Amino acid sequence: MAFDIDKYTANSTAVGWDDLDFDEFDRTPLPASTLRILRYMCDVEYHTVCYLRDLLTTPSHKEPEIGAFMTMWNREEFWHGEALSAVLAKHDMAVDFDELKATRVKLGWKDRLDPIKQSMMGGLVGHDFVAVHMAWGAANEWSANAAYLRLAKQEGHPVLAELLKRIAAQETKHVAFYASQARDRLAASKKARVIARFALNKFWRPVGSGISSEAEVGHVMGVLFAGTEGRKLVRDMDSHIAKLPGLEGLTIVENALDGYGIPAEGPGTEELRREVVAA
Ligand SMILES: [Fe+2]
Ligand SMILES: [Fe+2]
Repeated sequence: MAFDIDKYTANSTAVGWDDLDFDEFDRTPLPASTLRILRYMCDVEYHTVCYLRDLLTTPSHKEPEIGAFMTMWNREEFWHGEALSAVLAKHDMAVDFDELKATRVKLGWKDRLDPIKQSMMGGLVGHDFVAVHMAWGAANEWSANAAYLRLAKQEGHPVLAELLKRIAAQETKHVAFYASQARDRLAASKKARVIARFALNKFWRPVGSGISSEAEVGHVMGVLFAGTEGRKLVRDMDSHIAKLPGLEGLTIVENALDGYGIPAEGPGTEELRREVVAA
């Protein structure tokens, strides 16, 4: 079914958490490992505005539907960051948006070159860049959705789980937009299919790599997706991506996890944690 952009923009809103009892975090604080993941996710959400800036230099910004979506999408991701930073604040971990922005400025050349590289790529592949952007966005949103649902289940903290499920519900809408756009645009252009397949296979990395250290990416991927159960979720993500035209057979998420040495079999974090508690 086609994505209804008018309905989406009319209904787009901040993820709600006013009704959640955040004092529960005082009574039952989250473990350090989970806070580390939430910090990573918070940085990723707050980084969306930089990602948007890069994409405004590409042909995607000339597409009215995509412009409308990305405006609302950027706000929703920012609010995800705010909600996560409120959880972190309950554990005396401050994440200040202005401070993060200042850190981005300090990133220097790499960060400043990103828009140029993006626009060069946009110029080189022309209108087909939009299809690549949409396929890339779909892969990112599928993985964000899976990560939030996985952490909600693993941690089992009632307030955190509810918040993460609400965030994941918005990520599902983002998936729907990117995937429907990617499907149509890839189906319409052989050149787009070839470039998208090449770009995703060669360059896709887990969301957050590039803005967090490799150690942080490895920690997050390891906790969320290690072991047999985690690998099943990873293969589910890859199977969604591989259903897009031209991307058949790709296993980009699994390849990325293999690159971080995340075990594909055996117990995951949940089981290991249960064993420690039972011992
Ligand atoms: Fe998000
Ligand atoms: Fe999203």
